[in-house]
Amino acid sequence: MSRPLSRRNFISAAAAVSATALLPKRLFSVASTANASSVTRRVTVRADSEVGVVRPEFHGHFVEHLGSCVYGGLWVGKNSRLPNIVGYRKQAVEYLKDLGVPVLRWPGGCFADDYHWRDGIGPAAKRPRRVNIHWGDYVEDGSFGTHEFIGLCRLLGAQPYLAGNVGSSTPHELRDWIEYCNYPSGSTLSDERAANGSPEPFRVRYWGVGNESWGCGGNMRPEEYARLYRDFAVYCREFGGTELFLVASGPSGDDTRWSRGLMDGLGWERPQGVSMHYYTGGEDLSTSFSRDHLNEQLAIYAKVEESIIHQRAVLDSYEHGGDVGLVLDEWGVWDRIPEEDEKRYGKLWQQSTMRSAVAAGLGLNIFNRQADKLYMCNIAQMVNVLQSLLVTDGPEGEHCVRTTTYYAFSLFKPHRAKTAVRVEAEAPAPLGLSVSASRSDKELVVTFVNPHHDSDLQVECAIKEGNVSDGKAQILHDPDWNAFNSFDNPDRVVPKQHPISTKESRVELELPRLSVATVVMSIR
Ligand code: AHR
Repeated sequence: MSRPLSRRNFISAAAAVSATALLPKRLFSVASTANASSVTRRVTVRADSEVGVVRPEFHGHFVEHLGSCVYGGLWVGKNSRLPNIVGYRKQAVEYLKDLGVPVLRWPGGCFADDYHWRDGIGPAAKRPRRVNIHWGDYVEDGSFGTHEFIGLCRLLGAQPYLAGNVGSSTPHELRDWIEYCNYPSGSTLSDERAANGSPEPFRVRYWGVGNESWGCGGNMRPEEYARLYRDFAVYCREFGGTELFLVASGPSGDDTRWSRGLMDGLGWERPQGVSMHYYTGGEDLSTSFSRDHLNEQLAIYAKVEESIIHQRAVLDSYEHGGDVGLVLDEWGVWDRIPEEDEKRYGKLWQQSTMRSAVAAGLGLNIFNRQADKLYMCNIAQMVNVLQSLLVTDGPEGEHCVRTTTYYAFSLFKPHRAKTAVRVEAEAPAPLGLSVSASRSDKELVVTFVNPHHDSDLQVECAIKEGNVSDGKAQILHDPDWNAFNSFDNPDRVVPKQHPISTKESRVELELPRLSVATVVMSIR
């Protein structure tokens, strides 16, 4: 399991120079007012300079059998006193449908390499009860298995992404899971699926071949894992026309020793994707961050961007490596978690605050700016665990609250499937105004993130090669970085309309300290 970064790593992350800061100085024109708490920043959006498509999969999610993410969070069971849709928590499904979930990864995380898919099919009452060895040794009844996961994906309109067990399983077991899911009919496994209620194949395209194989997924060296990957991949087959996208277990952060060892060990074998995990660690409890730790955590995003650029370059340096998608399938803030909260609400239960929303905004802006280098990104995790979109008050709790991170994601929705275009903004390393933009034929979307806790920004944004009109903005902002949406006050931090001025090729707006704002405008 990758741990939050140590203090030493925070400092090296803080020293990192962001990619935009590496642009020539003359591209920037910065006017600072005398008042240090209000600064003018000039930004240029090059509307004709395309980066790549903002794949909806950049806004992907992840659910693991961990704490109250699945059991009690998303899955309350058909006989629950809580409102549910055949066992799924109704309120959670409604909120997630509103947001849109392009892709959903399951069942882990570390859990995946101890999961045997046959434990989660067939009549629920007959499923074996297993100890979750990674996350607290509690007993699971297996009532949420493959059919329940696919059912959730269908409710949400999400593409399923299944993480296969390499650490404690065999190529044969993974091959059979694929056949069970994807073979149309007539084989023993596909007929078993039909008998279990799903005659239609699940057509699962995304398959992870192990998770964190350098750690909880087998504690391997890269060459050992590469050898195993090749064994597994031979037996992962396209059934019934569902082409597979296999994701090999990649590095933690910017660990090039692992990525190079993996690529060297793969020989001519090329997976469709290589994963990468990057958590931005926090020194404090999520709702009581100190000023210094706030800055340290947000500064790591410069390092995240560098690592994406770097890891992409490593893959590209191999023959046909350019065809391998970079899949950031775990990312987000990982703060210090109090034991009392874990006892009450489940393992790794963490609140999202205004700080977390800014962190989400910094991450999602990076994905837009680096759209040509990424294939998919999955925030960890969807409900109740780490940087979640929703929190519930424990497995039996009736409250289900949209976190600040949920709302940060909602502000990025207009970017989905548009084409990212280049932006030039002053970005004093490692913490500066963060900007990204995307466009279609008729619409331009720009998101600004102000990560400063002590300075409001006046943003003057010039649009090159395009005239804009009818701009509308939404902002998520709270001057208190520890502000959050609680069970008593679920709407403390929500997006609001925000005034802007749009004229010909210019947009101007105020960007208060700690805010994420998206402007959507017509462009011609
Ligand atoms: O998301 C929590 C854990 O973090 C996952 O199980 C593991 O893959 C990572 O270390």
